[in-house]
Amino acid sequence: MHAMASVKPETCGAGAAAQPDALLRLKFCGLDFASPIVLLSGCVGFGEEYTRIEGFSNRDAGAIVLKGTTGKPRLGNPPHRIYETPAGMLNAIGLQNPGVEHVVRNILPQLDFSETRFIANVSGSTIEEYVEVTRRFDASPIDAIEINISCPNVKEGGVAFGNYPDMSAQVVAACRRVTQKPLITKLSPNQTDIRENARRCIEAGSDALAVINTVMGMAIDVETRRPFIGNLQGGLSGPAIKPIALLKVHQVYEVARPHGVPIIGQGGITTATDALEFIMAGATAIGVGTALFYEPMACKSINAGIAEYLKAQGLDNLLQLVGTLRTGRDIEDSPLCG
Ligand SMILES: Cc1cc2nc3c(=O)[nH]c(=O)nc-3n(C[C@H](O)[C@H](O)[C@H](O)COP(=O)(O)O)c2cc1C
Repeated sequence: MHAMASVKPETCGAGAAAQPDALLRLKFCGLDFASPIVLLSGCVGFGEEYTRIEGFSNRDAGAIVLKGTTGKPRLGNPPHRIYETPAGMLNAIGLQNPGVEHVVRNILPQLDFSETRFIANVSGSTIEEYVEVTRRFDASPIDAIEINISCPNVKEGGVAFGNYPDMSAQVVAACRRVTQKPLITKLSPNQTDIRENARRCIEAGSDALAVINTVMGMAIDVETRRPFIGNLQGGLSGPAIKPIALLKVHQVYEVARPHGVPIIGQGGITTATDALEFIMAGATAIGVGTALFYEPMACKSINAGIAEYLKAQGLDNLLQLVGTLRTGRDIEDSPLCG
C-alpha cells in the first residue's frame, strides 16, 4: 500500500469540487451530512492534512474525525509505529497529539466548517481525563464528540476501558454529564461480547456508536527476533479486518436499532461495495481510514458508487438501505463452525 497522489503547491481544499449526489445527504445525530462517509480518526491529521492533495476535498465527506486528543500533549510511542501486513497495517502511534488546549485554540479556528462536519476524538488514561477533554471540546465549535474507549486505564493497571462493559459505561456516563453535543462511542472489537458493551454505552447516554476500532495484533522480525512494532503490539486496520468489522456492525445493530441509535461502520472500507455491505449490515454512516493512505480519492468513487446503486435499486434515500440485510432463521440457526 503506498500513496501516489500529487501534492498541491498551495494549501487548502479544492473550492470548486462538485458536491456529492443529493441522494447521499442524511441527518446523523441531528447533524447535516452531505455524504455517509466519515474520515476516520488518526488517518487525516486534524482535518487539514489531505486538503493539500490535488483533487481532494473535505466536501466529499459527511464528517471528519480529528486525531485522538488527550488532556496534555503526548509524544507517542517509540518507532516503528506502523507496519504493513497482507491487506492491512498495524499501528501503534501512541496517541501523539498536541493536547486539547492547543487543538481548540490553534487548530479548530483553521478548519473550514462550511465544508463538512468536524468531530473530536477524545482519549484519556483516566475517567477524569476523558471528562476534562470532553468539557473543553463542549465549549468549542466542534460539531460532535467521539470517545475512544480503547485507551488503557492507568488506574486499573493498563487494561483498556473499552474491553469491559462496566468501564465503558462509566466513561460514557461521565462524558455525557459534561456535554450536550452529540456523543459517539467508538467500540473496541477486542472484547468478548460487543453487544453487551453497546447496550451499556447506549444506556449511559451515547447518541451513536462507531464500530469498530482496530483489532490488536503483532508482527515479528525473524532475523532479529524482535517485534516490528516498537510498542510490541499494534492495532490492525485496513481490508484485513473488514469481515470482522462487518459482523460486529451486524451484531451491534441488533442492539442499537430499537433505540434509534445510529452506527458509523468502519474497518477496511475501500470501495462503494464495501460501504454498501456495511450499510446493509446496519451502518447509517461509513468510515474510511487506512484506504486513504494508498487511495486518497477513495471518497469520490465511494460516493459515486453508492449513488449509482441507490438509483439502480429505485431508492431515493440512503436510509432506506440501512439494516436491510436479508437473514432468516435458517441462517441464524446454522452451526458456528465447520
Ligand atoms: C495510523 C492510525 C491512527 C489511528 N488513530 C486513532 C485515534 O487516534 N483514535 C481512534 O479512535 N482511532 C484511531 N485509529 C483507528 C481508525 O480511526 C479506524 O477506526 C480503524 O483504522 C479502522 O478503520 P480502517 O480500516 O478504515 O482504517 C487509527 C488508525 C490508524 C491506521
